[in-house]
Amino acid sequence: MKTNEVLISGRHLTKVFGYGKHKTTAVDDVSFEFHKGEIISIVGESGSGKTTLAKMIMGLLKESSGSISYMGKPRQLKRHADRKKYWKHIQAIFQDPFSSFNQFYKVEKLLLDCIRLQGLKLSKEEQLQKMKEACSFVNLKYEELHNKYPFELSGGQMQRLMIARIFMLHPQLLIADEPTSMVDACSRSTILDMLLKLRDENEMTIIFITHDVGLAYYVSDTLYIMERGKVVESGPAEDVIIHPQHPYTRQLISDVPKVHEAWDLS
Ligand SMILES: Nc1ncnc2c1ncn2[C@@H]1O[C@H](COP(=O)(O)OP(=O)(O)OP(=O)(O)O)[C@@H](O)[C@H]1O
Ligand SMILES: [Mg+2]
Repeated sequence: MKTNEVLISGRHLTKVFGYGKHKTTAVDDVSFEFHKGEIISIVGESGSGKTTLAKMIMGLLKESSGSISYMGKPRQLKRHADRKKYWKHIQAIFQDPFSSFNQFYKVEKLLLDCIRLQGLKLSKEEQLQKMKEACSFVNLKYEELHNKYPFELSGGQMQRLMIARIFMLHPQLLIADEPTSMVDACSRSTILDMLLKLRDENEMTIIFITHDVGLAYYVSDTLYIMERGKVVESGPAEDVIIHPQHPYTRQLISDVPKVHEAWDLS
């Protein structure tokens, strides 16, 4: 559940790509405060700056201006050791699950690496136990998959394997950039339910990035609506959906028949 403790906050974050005529302000003066155990959805159409914002939060892109605080302190990423420490707390699921795995490693090694990353000293038996537990959490059979390479898995299996890794690493912050776009509606809800379960068990903070305002409403505590680099509206999911203030939010909602029905019924 969402707590009152702030995990990460951003102040006046801006990211400008290019110069002169080719300048794009991908993220324009965005501020936020995300709490432990909170699920936040960042919603906006293609090109609105969602992934760019996520990359700055992850420390993969340097902000042009503004600052980020993590657990109440200014985030420092200058030294390699600082980045390594920060990235221990953060995991991401990207649009394309293929890019998330080293294609030359078998499933067994990909999972074993999670144990190593945490610096856990476990016996062979305990390692196996942990990997099996992670697989069964996402309804995969370790015995059937451990000897396979990522390219030998289906899109859905690969996404579940990503969640198995999250299960093993239990990060404080998970960023999921359109995690469900590659799978059908049925496995889509299974994946979401798995992530919600993980949040409840670990007090993980989850940032969902999506075009789909209906999905965002279903999973989130808080919504941030982005348009052309700016957050035009934010607040508790119910408030934003039931009483949208900004014309862009109203337009997003009217594009989703289901949310509209729920809104009419309430
Ligand atoms: N590395 C880059 N160099 C130059 N421009 C970039 C770069 N990355 C993103 N942009 C531009 O910044 C803007 C925001 O892109 P971003 O990828 O953040 O959008 P998005 O909201 O994630 O879109 P989508 O929903 O399609 O994934 C776009 O205009 C894009 O062309
Ligand atoms: Mg994107």
